[in-house]
Amino acid sequence: MPSGAPSEELLRRMKSARSILVLTGAGASAESGVPTFRGQGGLWREFRPEELATPTAFARNPKLVWEWYMWRRELVRQASPNHGHYALAALEAKFEEFTLVTQNVDGLHQRAGSRNVIEIHGNIMRSRCFSCGVQTGEVALDEDGQLPGCECGGLIRPDVVWFGELLPPQALKRAWDAATRAQVFLSVGTSSAVQPAAGLADIAGRAGAYLVEINPETTEMSDRFDEVVCAPSGQALPMICRGLGLNITADPAVRLS
Ligand code: OAD
Repeated sequence: MPSGAPSEELLRRMKSARSILVLTGAGASAESGVPTFRGQGGLWREFRPEELATPTAFARNPKLVWEWYMWRRELVRQASPNHGHYALAALEAKFEEFTLVTQNVDGLHQRAGSRNVIEIHGNIMRSRCFSCGVQTGEVALDEDGQLPGCECGGLIRPDVVWFGELLPPQALKRAWDAATRAQVFLSVGTSSAVQPAAGLADIAGRAGAYLVEINPETTEMSDRFDEVVCAPSGQALPMICRGLGLNITADPAVRLS
């Protein structure tokens, strides 16, 4: 049965756990004003993310794809971490092993103070060459709308993983290894609709972890969790911290350098 608050069982498990694995998705940043992908707010102009976040879309119309990412970069720049981000940073300090795997590309976990963050879908502020793969900083369309180019002659693209692309293998391996060691697995703000990230819960479950979903809506995967906390992460995660006797430091001075 979903509940709006973490159970005594979850708090008991967390108090005795050495290793925690957290998977976050777009919902973790929703209370920071960054729109999720599915559901309301997922559209940009008339496009769905699946129509723009692909190598084919970039090859067909790189300017359109860049315009979308420049809009999203601006949203991320304006956004600040929320209570959920800060709660996860506070939790990290308590555990021997605390791994935060994120599908988010907005860097808000790091801005809230999380350290052991595995970005399996890249980072929106970075760019890389579409042809040779060399990474660059934050380049984009120039004022005249000219596409950024690489020295090799290729086009520069945002350094994020698109539909149909492989995830960075090292990041994936670290995430998978952490899943086999976790005693508690928290799935926070993700629809669990995209593989392989959604499969982390199964790996952690098979290895004996207590599986918890934190989401104000039920998802296709909810039945597979031991516990569903049916609340926004900005409420549920601070409740977990309080249950463990932890203070949350929400330092508004923490900003992306
Ligand atoms: P989705 O947009 O699919 O799902 C967001 C989830 O967050 C939904 O289940 C919402 O119910 C939930 N949610 C909304 N507000 C919330 C809140 N305040 N607290 C907690 N949960 C909340 O986003 P993802 O699951 O992250 O991939 O999507 C996975 C991947 O699909 C993304 O990383 C992206 C996308 O296409 C790529 O771009 C490769």
